[in-house]
Amino acid sequence: MKMDRRGFLVTGAALALAPSLPFAQTGTRILRLAPASQRLVGAPYPATGVWAYNGQVPGPVLRFRQGERLRIEVENALAVDTTVHWHGVRLPNAMDGVPNLTQPPIAANGGRFTYEFALPDAGTFWYHPHLGSAEQVARGLYGALIVEERDPPAVDRDLVWMLSDWRLDREARIRADFGNPMDASHAGRIGNTVTLNGALGESFAVRAGERIRLRLINASTARIYGLSFEGHQPWVIALDGQPVAPHWFERVVLGPGMRADLILDCAAAPGSRHRVIDGFYRQRAYELLKIQYSDEKPLRDGFEPAPRLRANPVAQPEEARAERHRIVFGGGMMGAMPSQREHRGMFWTVNGKPVPEHGHAPAPLLTLARGKSYAIELVNETSWHHPIHLHGHVFRVVSQNGKEVLPRQFADTVLIDPDSRAEIAFVADNPGDWMLHCHVLEHQASGMMAVVRVA
Ligand code: C2O
Ligand code: CU
Repeated sequence: MKMDRRGFLVTGAALALAPSLPFAQTGTRILRLAPASQRLVGAPYPATGVWAYNGQVPGPVLRFRQGERLRIEVENALAVDTTVHWHGVRLPNAMDGVPNLTQPPIAANGGRFTYEFALPDAGTFWYHPHLGSAEQVARGLYGALIVEERDPPAVDRDLVWMLSDWRLDREARIRADFGNPMDASHAGRIGNTVTLNGALGESFAVRAGERIRLRLINASTARIYGLSFEGHQPWVIALDGQPVAPHWFERVVLGPGMRADLILDCAAAPGSRHRVIDGFYRQRAYELLKIQYSDEKPLRDGFEPAPRLRANPVAQPEEARAERHRIVFGGGMMGAMPSQREHRGMFWTVNGKPVPEHGHAPAPLLTLARGKSYAIELVNETSWHHPIHLHGHVFRVVSQNGKEVLPRQFADTVLIDPDSRAEIAFVADNPGDWMLHCHVLEHQASGMMAVVRVA
């Protein structure tokens, strides 16, 4: 991209005055789960029956400022039990939303639960059920939780792009084949329709010279995205809500649960159009949407380099002195699947054992000492991708798929290629029982999870 500084007329301060999302908290304080209907695909298809927070998919964007307290009352008007998990937030264990481990389920037909906790980190987070989540998330239960920096970078617009996919029939109804063994033992339930913020993405209107912060969230239960922005060179400024040194990328890869904050500088010509392509699955690349420039003259002629976000107050693990552990993920089609006679419907293992999603809290796989540094090797002995997510903490990704990650980045989910491995390091500084699981939710439901105790 040409970085033409000569024409740069608008300073950061002036940028802050440009139209952007209000800072004030715009999210509602009550989340009510109920069936709803929404136009996911356009005419001639009918609206789709979904499950929704406050009647909309995605649920409302909840915006807070770093350091504020979140207090949200959840009311469950669905006919099934649920919980709300606040993905990526370092919160007290009792607020983590894991049924039978950190709280009782929020009962069907009117159960209530109030979540209340402080928000230590700025960044892009999200919320979703942690009970029957392979079905509940696939039916539309998810939303963004945005924690604003105390000194946010100047941008013209700050937008959330929540990506998800659906398995629809010809009448645009959700196919109710949840948890079928075919999906569960392979790549998970990959849909046939991808939506952006709950609708088919067609075109995204921009003005030349705009600087846009895009917060990408992968809310799919199984689909991995690999996005490229033709004609543009966006910067990545945060991954999983945690700041990284701004860098350009060709393709941003997001496994389920993962997020990326981008700075998209609209440096192309007025009136031009450009495709955003998802090419993660080769042979099955498709156009997610078109970036459509208005004819207006550019808002500015050039862009300063993307700003670096201030780091969150996350403890730095001492990698060299960390206590080391190894966790092996196995099973799946073409792998060592658990015996179906003993473990019906369980296809995946953690250190040789499948852990069912429902029922009693499993015994901890690891017990960690509070305040100590740990380095954990996550070994994927399967033929499938797994985005492995740890609750209550963020970790340094030390290596991924055979390569050291430099500079180290913080994350809460690491995507591991088939027959590959990753190493993570973190300070076990949040007491409680925390889930460690694959965020392909059909894998989680069929054995691929564990509990890590910080005592
Ligand atoms: Cu986003 Cu345990 O989950
Ligand atoms: Cu998995």
